[in-house]
Amino acid sequence: MSTNVVESWQINPNAKADDLEAKQPFIDNGLDVLEASRYYSPDFMALEWEKMWTRTWLIAGIETDIPEPGDYSVFRIRRESIIIVRQEDGSIKALYNVCAHRGNQIVHNDRGSLVQFTCSFHSWQYGLDGACTHITDKETFNPQLVCENPRLKELHCETHAGLIFINMDDNPPPLKERFGLPEGYLEAYQLDKMHCVRHTVSEWAANWKTGIDAFYETYHLHSVHPETQDVMDDMGVQVDLYPHGGSRMLVPIAVKTKRQADQDVINPSLEYMMMEASIDPAQFNGSAKEVREAIQRAKRERSDRLGLGYERFTDGQLTDSWATGIFPNVQIGLHPEGAFLMRFMPHSTDPEKFYYDTMTLVYPVDDPDYSVPGWMGLPEGTDTSGEIRPDTEYTGIGEPADLGQVLDQDSELLPVVQQGIRSKGFAGAIWGEQEQRLRHFHRELNRYLDGEK
Ligand code: FES
Ligand SMILES: [Fe+2]
Repeated sequence: MSTNVVESWQINPNAKADDLEAKQPFIDNGLDVLEASRYYSPDFMALEWEKMWTRTWLIAGIETDIPEPGDYSVFRIRRESIIIVRQEDGSIKALYNVCAHRGNQIVHNDRGSLVQFTCSFHSWQYGLDGACTHITDKETFNPQLVCENPRLKELHCETHAGLIFINMDDNPPPLKERFGLPEGYLEAYQLDKMHCVRHTVSEWAANWKTGIDAFYETYHLHSVHPETQDVMDDMGVQVDLYPHGGSRMLVPIAVKTKRQADQDVINPSLEYMMMEASIDPAQFNGSAKEVREAIQRAKRERSDRLGLGYERFTDGQLTDSWATGIFPNVQIGLHPEGAFLMRFMPHSTDPEKFYYDTMTLVYPVDDPDYSVPGWMGLPEGTDTSGEIRPDTEYTGIGEPADLGQVLDQDSELLPVVQQGIRSKGFAGAIWGEQEQRLRHFHRELNRYLDGEK
C-alpha cells in the first residue's frame, strides 16, 4: 500500500466506489529505474515495432470521420498504411493500403469516399471489403496465380465509444479484454456524436515516449506552463491506474493551484472562464475558491436550457480535465463540450523523432450564444459546426504548428529533454508519485517487449 501524499489527492472524496470519478486502488509498479536507451536506440525501436506496435490495439480513427458506406480514412504508422473503410452494412473494415498485384499503395490521400478502390498502377479494382473485383487483362495471367482472387489484406478492426481500433496481430485478444477503462467511461462523453474540427500532425525532435511521459503528468506545469497555475490545481490531481497500461489524471480546472498563497482573489483567467459559462464576473460575489462550483452550476443550467443531457456527468466532469491515457500512445482530454485526442506516433525510421497527432473534437450544440471553450485553442475563424471535415495540417520540425501557447512550450522543451536523455551523464529517469502514470505505461510496454500480448 502506498503511503505517499499523492495517493490522498482525490477529486471527490465522497465518490461512491462505482462512480466513474472514484479513486482506483493503488497499483504497485515498483521502483525500477529504466535504461535511457529506450528513448533513442534503433534496436529498441525495432523491438517495439516487432513486439508491441504490431501486436496491440491502436486508435486508427474516429467513426464520425467516415459516416457513410464508402467513406474511408487512412491510418499511417511507421511504414504501414492502413485504410479504414465503412462497409455497405454500416460496419467498418481495416485493409492494408497495398495492392495485391505489385504492391502499389491504393489510396494516396488522408480520407475520402468511393464505391470501389482502383489501383493507379495497372487498374486492378477492389470492393469496399477488399475483395478483388477486376483484374485488367485477366486472361494474360496463368489461372494458377489468380484463381483465388487476390485481395487487399484485411486486419482486425473493432470500434468502441466512437473510436476505431485496429490490430496488426493475426490473432489478437478482443479489444474489450485489453481496454482497461471501465464500461461507460468513454461512452458518457458521446464521442460518437463529436466531430473533428481541427486535425494537426506536427513532427517533434524527440522519441514518442518522451512525448507521452511529458503529457502524462502535471508535475511540470508550474515550471513550463506557469500561466496554467491561475486556473489548474496541479496539487490536487487525482491519478488513477487501470489494467493493461491505461491511466488517467483528473485535473481540477477553474481553480487556482495550491502553490499560490492567495486563494481568494479572482484573476483574469478565472474571469474569462466564468464569462465562457455566461457568468458576469462583475456580478459575482464569491472568492476564487467558489468559481469552479459556480461554473458547474452555470453549465448545468445551460444543459437544462439546451437539452444537453449533462445529468450523465458528475459536477467535476463539467469543469475538470479528465486526461485519459489509452495504451500505448494516446491521451484524450475529455470534456462535455468536446475532446482533445492526442496520438504520439513513432517516426518512420528515426527513434528520436515522433509525430504529434491531435484531433479537436466538438460536441454539437445548437445555440447562437454558445461558443466552444477557449481551452480548445482553436485558431480564429475555425468552423466548429462539424459540417466540414477539415484537412489534416502537417508541419515539419521547427515549423510553427500553431498549437497554442501551452503546446508550443512543450514542443520547444521536448527536443531539449531528448538531447539530455541520450547523454552519457544520464542514468535513467527517477519518477515520483506525480509521475506514476509513466511507470505504469512503461511497465505495460515492457510486458509486450518480454513477448506477452
Ligand atoms: S500494382 Fe496495383 S494493379 Fe498493378
Ligand atoms: Fe506540458
